[in-house]
Amino acid sequence: MKYAVIGNPIHHSWSPFIHTQFAEQTKIKLGYDALKLECACQKSFEYAIQQLFENGYKGLNITLPYKTWAFELMKKKHGLSHYAEKAGAVNTISFMNATKWQGDNTDGIGLVRDLKHRLGWPLKKANLLILGAGGAASGVIPALIDEKPACIHILNRDQSKADDLATRFATEDCDIDSVDKPRKQAYHLIINATSSGLLQQLPSTIQHVNPQDTYCYDMVYASYPTPFLQWALANQAKAVSDGLGMLVEQAAESFYQWHHQMPETALVIKQLRQQLRPLDKP
Ligand code: ATR
Repeated sequence: MKYAVIGNPIHHSWSPFIHTQFAEQTKIKLGYDALKLECACQKSFEYAIQQLFENGYKGLNITLPYKTWAFELMKKKHGLSHYAEKAGAVNTISFMNATKWQGDNTDGIGLVRDLKHRLGWPLKKANLLILGAGGAASGVIPALIDEKPACIHILNRDQSKADDLATRFATEDCDIDSVDKPRKQAYHLIINATSSGLLQQLPSTIQHVNPQDTYCYDMVYASYPTPFLQWALANQAKAVSDGLGMLVEQAAESFYQWHHQMPETALVIKQLRQQLRPLDKP
């Protein structure tokens, strides 16, 4: 059975490593490739996916910049899971047969599992502040809402994007709002969903944010504390974590969709942390 992650760039992807570890654990025989796809438009992307299906791939993980095109394809011609539909992005495609394909989004479940199960941080009735309003934020908000926090406030450099997300995800279950600076209430958890960490930068929006006694999670990961986590630690955060656990948990959920077996993630997170260490110096 052949699987792959597709994106551009793709050389940095840890998905082949993670899925190979899961396959060894569960004794499932599979191949998992990292494929660089150079598609200039939706049509060429759809053609490439069709070719991959015809070449025998049973499932694909989709990474940047193709999650929205994958969503459009699956919406138009195939099926979408609840979270893919809500997020407007697909990171997992399952090919059942020539006419039955399913698009899923496992990013939010991955984040929630890492927060709840590995870290044991509370989400129910918690006040959450999300920094950023791009694809990373919209991908995880639906799963966060299902944990019934008291509020989800979205703070973004371009506030109109935070307004759009707050409107799109409005629900009676919790108070979802865009904020131009954090409200006076205390936040229990701050999630950095900006892409600033990829450039070793702090989100410019943190200037009004106080992380004291607050859990701080960076969806970006590195072998050293990211700039956001360094800032949180220097300002008396309660505890911090980067997004390595989320990466492994979202992969585990994709694996489950394809093979109906849930792999053990703790060991793989540990192995991945060891793999990262010598590679990724600040
Ligand atoms: P992704 O899919 O990774 O979320 P994206 O859609 O390009 O990528 O969104 C990146 C997010 O990070 C955006 O919310 C962006 O803010 P703007 O919408 O104002 O551009 C945010 N971001 C990136 N660099 C940032 C920085 N240095 N400070 C604050 N926010 C930043």
